[in-house]
Amino acid sequence: MEKDNIIEVKNLHVDIAMTEGTLTPVRGVNFEIKRGETLGLVGESGSGKSLTCKAILGINDKKCKASGQILFNSKESGEMDLLSLNPKGKEIRNVRGKQISMIFQEPMVAFSPMYTIGNQINECTLLHITKDKKKAKEISMEVMRKVGIANVEKRYNQYPHEFSGGMLQRALIAMALVCNPDMLIADEPTTALDVTIQAQILELMKEMQKEFNMAILFITHDLGVVARMCDRVAVMYLGKVVESGDAKTIYANPQHPYTRGLIGSVHKIGGKKEERLFSIEGTVPLAMNLPEACGFYDRCDARIEGLCNKADPELVEIEPGHQIACFNCPHEACKAQRAKAEQMIKEREERETAKAANEPAKSKKKKWGRK
Ligand SMILES: Nc1ncnc2c1ncn2[C@@H]1O[C@H](COP(=O)(O)OP(=O)(O)OP(=O)(O)O)[C@@H](O)[C@H]1O
Ligand code: SF4
Ligand SMILES: [Mg+2]
Repeated sequence: MEKDNIIEVKNLHVDIAMTEGTLTPVRGVNFEIKRGETLGLVGESGSGKSLTCKAILGINDKKCKASGQILFNSKESGEMDLLSLNPKGKEIRNVRGKQISMIFQEPMVAFSPMYTIGNQINECTLLHITKDKKKAKEISMEVMRKVGIANVEKRYNQYPHEFSGGMLQRALIAMALVCNPDMLIADEPTTALDVTIQAQILELMKEMQKEFNMAILFITHDLGVVARMCDRVAVMYLGKVVESGDAKTIYANPQHPYTRGLIGSVHKIGGKKEERLFSIEGTVPLAMNLPEACGFYDRCDARIEGLCNKADPELVEIEPGHQIACFNCPHEACKAQRAKAEQMIKEREERETAKAANEPAKSKKKKWGRK
């Protein structure tokens, strides 16, 4: 892996065995994050964002089978493929919480109602930093102060139900940061909060990032939050990254029809009042028995009949650091991919025609044979 990268996710798949068949909500996700950088992972509900993050930490349900590679550049152990580790083993436990930690969307679910907030934060400190209980408590309290929790001596001994939503989210951030992780996964960390608290929490995460040179994988639906927080963006649709690049470039010049739709569906500061917002018709299809086609085909206003419904585009680089998976794009790399796909479809159809022409003869032969 490249030395500046802290993580490289390569061709990640997550399959879930269901009674009706196999669900493939993650179908070949690729991205990388540099140390100290923030990558925003955006996409509609159900596009596979949370499954992707949980695969990094090996915390998906047992029935979710992940494959591909998740290369992590560990300061302690060097390069390792997280997917090849035993999800209950010592090595991944040394990464989880200590080197990579996660903030979940629902703080109420992340904390146990049975233990005090201090106890739960301290659990990480005792596990990864020091076995000395007094020292551990001091460290935990210090981080609670850092994330803006006032009156820490009292707060430390309170239970989750005694915290407001915003305070609980701060406590969750304290729990995620107490071991100075090299990477933080924040899965919709502010969606449940009101706008002013949201702004404070985002600011806090940025400060913490600066202090610890932490990489952040930031999952959100909110493009405003992406613009504020992220250096780069990866746009996910139906279990794949369909466009990725520098946040400013993607905002100013989105190339994939889905990204254009997403950006067109939010208000712009200074935009005309009477301007209608764009909406993407339809919903994300169920990721089961998907045909060999572009996942966005049914909803795309730029689709090419006979191509987009017969082949699935790969992510290709259209300019340094900017990648897109679409056949209908004027860039050379997309044109080359389109020509290759057209040739592949042509050959496949010729083979099928030849096969179909052969089949009646074969079945005739069989009939004669039986007689
Ligand atoms: N344990 C599971 N069993 C069955 N299906 C699952 C499971 N976990 C996730 N899925 C399905 O996989 C798809 C992707 O789920 P995921 O949670 O990654 O979506 P998401 O992009 O995080 O969506 P949201 O923005 O709503 O959080 C969804 O359709 C979801 O219903
Ligand atoms: S490949 Fe075709 S269907 Fe898919 S996004 Fe591009 S134009 Fe639309
Ligand atoms: Mg999610």
